[in-house]
Amino acid sequence: MIDITPYTVEFSTLEPPIAWPDIFGNDHPVEIEIGSGKGLFLANAARAQPNHNFFGIELARKYARRGTERIAKLGLANVRMLPGDALLFMAKYVPAASLRAAHVYFPDPWWKSRHRKRRVFNEPLVLDLERTLEPGGELRVVTDVGDYFNVIQALMATHERFLPLPEPVPTAPEHEHDYLTNFERKYRIEGRPIYRAHYRFE
Ligand SMILES: C[S@@+](CC[C@H](N)C(=O)[O-])C[C@H]1O[C@@H](n2cnc3c(N)ncnc32)[C@H](O)[C@@H]1O
Repeated sequence: MIDITPYTVEFSTLEPPIAWPDIFGNDHPVEIEIGSGKGLFLANAARAQPNHNFFGIELARKYARRGTERIAKLGLANVRMLPGDALLFMAKYVPAASLRAAHVYFPDPWWKSRHRKRRVFNEPLVLDLERTLEPGGELRVVTDVGDYFNVIQALMATHERFLPLPEPVPTAPEHEHDYLTNFERKYRIEGRPIYRAHYRFE
């Protein structure tokens, strides 16, 4: 079995606030992904940008492990994955103005209205993003749920330091790993609409 220890960070080893150089061993720009699932975005982004560090947080330990195994097999020294709650990590552990980018792809929609408060993309997260993104940093959000997308856009419109940027529709992938994430692959193959937002933090 592949050793994922070098690519794994556990809450039990962290003292808030963390210092990114302690985690990555360098001071390269840090991009964070909230709800990394099986880690396809982290793997592709880390190979495309070897001089950026990528930190993925995934609540479901089983998927966090699958994602970290993918990273370990590829030997991507610029990736770490934390199994656990991204909202707790953002609120308590991430230092101010320390992130170059944040990525939130296909957050769980929690369809039932009594469960909506479990959605990760909410006001407290946006406040944490305002605190933790560097000026000039970026936020990318993608979902297949139109209603959730409208809520996200309305919420972001109330935070004026986030400037909406045009987000081009990606071209058709040539390879099964050319997708943004595992859920993007599944939903694009199913032909579902996909909503993409991109913001620059001023
Ligand atoms: C629909 S999946 C999308 C996974 C991946 N982003 C993709 O597009 O393939 C949503 C993921 O977010 C994770 N998640 C939900 N709440 C979370 C939280 N508070 N912190 C970290 N991950 C969370 C879930 O466990 C799940 O793996």
